[in-house]
Amino acid sequence: MNITKFQHDLVSWYEIEKRDLPWRRERDPYKIWVSEIMLQQTRVDTVIPFFNRFMDQFPTIDSLASADEESVLKAWEGLGYYSRIRNLQSAVKEVAENYDGIVPADKKEFLSLKGVGPYTGGAVLSIAYGLPEPAVDGNVMRVISRLLSIWDDIAKPSSRKIFEYTVGELMYKEDPSSFNQALMELGAIICTPTSPSCLLCPVQNHCMAFEEGVQRELPVKTKK
Ligand code: ADE
Repeated sequence: MNITKFQHDLVSWYEIEKRDLPWRRERDPYKIWVSEIMLQQTRVDTVIPFFNRFMDQFPTIDSLASADEESVLKAWEGLGYYSRIRNLQSAVKEVAENYDGIVPADKKEFLSLKGVGPYTGGAVLSIAYGLPEPAVDGNVMRVISRLLSIWDDIAKPSSRKIFEYTVGELMYKEDPSSFNQALMELGAIICTPTSPSCLLCPVQNHCMAFEEGVQRELPVKTKK
């Protein structure tokens, strides 16, 4: 694959086609962080109004850190998976207390916070701080497995490393934020699970699965 051409085709498609989502108008690491936590188990359309209301109510690290738990849980009502918000508030308190209220841009420090795993870490560090970190979730694994015809089982925890390494190799270092979001966007609107729109795909001519006609067989995902 011509990586430079691939990066260009992907990112220029994203710049034109990206959905106008509220967190895409933000660079504040705190706001990006909240959006990524909300998006982990909840669909984009559902998240939008919750994100907007949450930001009205808790616009800064300090406002969330000092809020009483009840009002925070109430603002999360309807999103479910309450451990997400409990972990987020406790992580934000730690940022307020130990990091002067500034989300750490250091990977090790950020990943040490409650509820921040490799996906959230990569997403926030790349989108908010422009660092060339992979942000690999299920959608990105699907896109990459097709692009490079990778047949490792994405349900296996050990596969994540393979995809993280691969995204790292493909990373557009001039603009990691757009690059990672472009992979997510491609997975959300073109390279969908059951009927990918290959004929509309901006990186079709780089895609090994399309060339081999196996895009519907990938990714390999065994039931857990
Ligand atoms: N899903 C996870 N993160 C996302 C983001 N930043 N934009 C759109 N969908 C997402």
